[in-house]
Amino acid sequence: MSPLSITRTLPADATTAALRADVSQGLSRTPKQLPPKWFYDARGSELFEEITRLPDYYPTRAEREILLTRADQIAAATNARTLIELGSGSSDKTRHLIGALTGLHSYVPVDVSESALAAAGEALLADHPGLTVHALVADFQQGIELPDTPGPRLLAFLGGTLGNLVPEERAAFLRSVHALLSPGDALLLGTDLVKDEATLVAAYDDPQGVTAAFNKNVLHVINRELGGDFDPADFDHVALWNTEHEWIEMRLRARKELTVKIPDVDLAVTFDAGEELRTEVSAKFRKDGVRAELAAAGMELTNWWTDGAERFALSLSFRA
Ligand code: AVJ
Repeated sequence: MSPLSITRTLPADATTAALRADVSQGLSRTPKQLPPKWFYDARGSELFEEITRLPDYYPTRAEREILLTRADQIAAATNARTLIELGSGSSDKTRHLIGALTGLHSYVPVDVSESALAAAGEALLADHPGLTVHALVADFQQGIELPDTPGPRLLAFLGGTLGNLVPEERAAFLRSVHALLSPGDALLLGTDLVKDEATLVAAYDDPQGVTAAFNKNVLHVINRELGGDFDPADFDHVALWNTEHEWIEMRLRARKELTVKIPDVDLAVTFDAGEELRTEVSAKFRKDGVRAELAAAGMELTNWWTDGAERFALSLSFRA
């Protein structure tokens, strides 16, 4: 058997069906909202990679710093023989971890992008010829089925993507993680931390306009996939800090009253002048909150590591 296998658990048309449902529900309600996962077509993934290189967008660099300095401790604490990574993308940051996990047998990257999985899998195998890579094309929120590989397992969910889920979604997600693991298996979780508002807002509203383009990309996705006639120039990018929920919200604000037709879902959507469409929440965390959310899902937090500037945290927790 080839050391690289790619299993598709998403039917080819499942993505479009899910997009239709999210668009018709999200644009028919008040206030209007869309889930952030629809940013990430090929262009959106490129724009996100560009965001990670912006001076104001600190989370990626902060998390990489922690992974670099703590990889050996993570390896010693987990002894993982299987590493699963949800939302693996380019598997870039994971390289350090794979290098440190000396007993590693299998790497299971999970992503909705088959092209990203194939490229990342090939690159990893070039460096680690003894590794078995079982890539899964899947949406982790829809539930995944893991290949039969040796334990202990370490499941990594990096980048702060947990923050893109609202609390009820996070609880459901963490329970599903618990269900995938056996006693003694571990979860490595990246969470961005609460900090001063100016730093947070700057990370989501860069002067270069890359985050604005990323935000508006969801309109291009709807136009292409569902025949919509959004003019992205009719909308302004908005990033604000919600103190009550301790999350950043990205919104698109209509510059004038307008109507958008989306034929594939039989929708004509009217925006008032100044009306906003929420496109993302990115929650920021505190240690006690992370510990409590993990505990509620049956996971016990054992390690908490931050970068030197205490902007971002990696936590390690175990299924009891
Ligand atoms: C990749 C989901 C962690 O929430 O910070 C970056 C996405 N949105 N800039 C985040 C994002 C706007 C990012 N995550």
